[in-house]
Amino acid sequence: MFKPTDADWKRLTDFARNAAARAWAPYSGFRVGAAVLTRYGAIRVGANIENASYGLTVCAERVAVWDAWIRHHDRPIGVAIYTPTPTPAAPCGACRQVLHEFGGGDLRVISVCDGPQRIDCLLVQLLPAAFGPADLEPKRHRVPVNP
Ligand code: THU
Repeated sequence: MFKPTDADWKRLTDFARNAAARAWAPYSGFRVGAAVLTRYGAIRVGANIENASYGLTVCAERVAVWDAWIRHHDRPIGVAIYTPTPTPAAPCGACRQVLHEFGGGDLRVISVCDGPQRIDCLLVQLLPAAFGPADLEPKRHRVPVNP
């Protein structure tokens, strides 16, 4: 398992900043970049991909997590997010759920922006008492569905 250093985390935030340029965001004009660091040290990036049918938009974070899975079959241990804002933004609710699916509560979340502030926390702080894969294990289903 890969043990990231401070330099690795700094590099991850640089990847997130650079990834924002790859966004397809003609409707909001809001270009978000994300980068995930996987258990084995790979970095995959994502940017938000909007759609003329607005509700089909996918956030930067989900693009990055899914690419890490497809390319490396690997799970994230951390995600860096860049938003073009004066203060940092935390990932949206849908992305928190997807990050939890692949990274669990111990995943590190770092949000950076155009100002000096940053968010640096664990996913469990952003999504406490999460519903996750363990909730679907048969042994957890104590109440029969069709008795
Ligand atoms: N967006 C993200 O990419 N990540 C987030 O966590 C929040 C929002 C995108 C979606 C949309 O393209 C634009 O930002 C405005 O909501």
